[in-house]
Amino acid sequence: MALVALASAKGSPGVTTASLVFGALWPRQVLLAECDPAGSDVAIRMTGPGGAALNSDRGLVSLAAASRKGLGDEVILAHSQQLDGGLDVLLGVRSPEQVGGMGGLWHPLGITFNQMQHGDVLADCGRIGASSPQLPVIQSARLVVLMCSATGSSVAHLRERLSTLVHHVDAQLGVVVVADPKQRDAVKQVWTVLDAMSLPVRHRWHLAYDQAGAAFFDGRGHGRLDKTPLIRTATDITAEMASLVSAPPPQDFDMANAAFPPGDDR
Ligand SMILES: Nc1ncnc2c1ncn2[C@@H]1O[C@H](COP(=O)(O)OP(=O)(O)OP(=O)(O)O)[C@@H](O)[C@H]1O
Ligand SMILES: [Mg+2]
Repeated sequence: MALVALASAKGSPGVTTASLVFGALWPRQVLLAECDPAGSDVAIRMTGPGGAALNSDRGLVSLAAASRKGLGDEVILAHSQQLDGGLDVLLGVRSPEQVGGMGGLWHPLGITFNQMQHGDVLADCGRIGASSPQLPVIQSARLVVLMCSATGSSVAHLRERLSTLVHHVDAQLGVVVVADPKQRDAVKQVWTVLDAMSLPVRHRWHLAYDQAGAAFFDGRGHGRLDKTPLIRTATDITAEMASLVSAPPPQDFDMANAAFPPGDDR
């Protein structure tokens, strides 16, 4: 299975909200891993089955302590919990101060997430900069998705971050612009900016800016979630992302085997 990392360059374009939405719509078994060093929002905004409070002591920090004996599916799942609705989540740190206690966990964590037999992993990596501790998680992902809004400053920061990130990741790159569904021209302008940079950002998506829909992922929703522009736009995006990472990863080309295939004794 595969790791998909979601992040932003600056501001709060809606990475946590989108991670929750994509996780809820993901067509296969998936774990939402909160890898934002700024601190967990899911623990504050969401509840467990039946509206029960989530256990904020169980998550990345308890996993870091347990991982000294080894890291694998079982240990990660033992420190995860379910949200109301059934999505599995590994809660992030409660505060940035707890990140220091994570030691060298980020690197093995990224590798393990990308190889979990249990299912795919969606990592909410928050804002990323050149010295972000969670960078190794992003470097292990099969698909890295940066999010921005359609404002000039958000796009400028996205550009700057992408131009650095391409030198640090081998993954497929995607961009999600969060904008009002009517703002198609503004979103097209973002794609024009990316084209002008000649960066290998092949996957481009427009997620609806929709306050009523987003409120459901902030503990404040009312009415029918499935009819909201947020869910309508996220449904196609989620299906595309899941399909992009469902194929087996490309194997290294075996030059010797290609030149001298087995059984060719000439
Ligand atoms: N698609 C959306 N449409 C409208 N409002 C949204 C959308 N996504 C998020 N929001 C709102 O924007 C605010 C920030 O969202 P969220 O916490 O998901 O952003 P973030 O990028 O994870 O921020 P941070 O970097 O601070 O963690 C919240 O109030 C949320 O309800
Ligand atoms: Mg967030």
